[in-house]
Amino acid sequence: MTRPMPEFDLDAYVGRSRAVDLSAFAWDDVPRYPLAPEAIRTLRYMQDIESHTIIYLRALLATRAVDDPEVATFLACWLYEETFHGLALARFLEAAGQPIGTRPRPRGQEPWAKRIEAAATAMVSKAWPDFCAVHMTWGAINELTTLTGYRRLVAVTNHPVLTDLLETIVLDESRHFFFYYRQAEMRLRRPTVARVARLIVDRFWAPVGSGVQPDDELVFLSRYLFDDEDGRAAARKVDDTIRRLPGFATAQLLDAWMNRHVRNGGRHGYRDN
Ligand SMILES: [Fe+2]
Ligand SMILES: [Fe+2]
Repeated sequence: MTRPMPEFDLDAYVGRSRAVDLSAFAWDDVPRYPLAPEAIRTLRYMQDIESHTIIYLRALLATRAVDDPEVATFLACWLYEETFHGLALARFLEAAGQPIGTRPRPRGQEPWAKRIEAAATAMVSKAWPDFCAVHMTWGAINELTTLTGYRRLVAVTNHPVLTDLLETIVLDESRHFFFYYRQAEMRLRRPTVARVARLIVDRFWAPVGSGVQPDDELVFLSRYLFDDEDGRAAARKVDDTIRRLPGFATAQLLDAWMNRHVRNGGRHGYRDN
């Protein structure tokens, strides 16, 4: 069953785009509630990936995405909001006595694999006028995974200040998801575009942060947030939503990735008591 999704109102989004208000949270209360080391480790990953948006944008700006006025307008607000998610999470970690510190590798110096990926993406984008459909689909998957991850973190930590902060961030992520999803839906209507986009996603998609943070960190976070009954149900819901996009009815995404990388990893369950 497919529910019709309303249009994305770009003007309303741009008019409402705000930085997370860092003065709105009870930072002094952060140390008053317990927070597992696993949650701290997960937050470090999330903080780093939020702050990496400017680098993701650098790759995006080298593609045709920049030629679409709606996409370009959205991306300006998107970067602004994501940057503040990174700052807000850094502030939370600092309040928890776990400041971020210096990143081992400067953000702008990406590993070779990522640089080659960005160059290849720019080349394919030049050759294929509909490449933006892939970006929009990719963005929809990543935003939905991110907001689902934050909701899971709220559920497993039950920390009041973190809950306040993540619920605020999730509102932004929902709007981001909605933009990308509606764009993807429109662009994938042409079967040839949908077919090529699906091929690229099937071949190259991995959860957000892959290649930026070490694989071990991604597996750790995935196990912590998604490898129990509720987590698995949340992962399947992500996949079911993406499968409603044209051409994606049988796509294997988060749940399949979990089966490949987490279930068979032979690691301990981090939330086992
Ligand atoms: Fe974000
Ligand atoms: Fe986002």
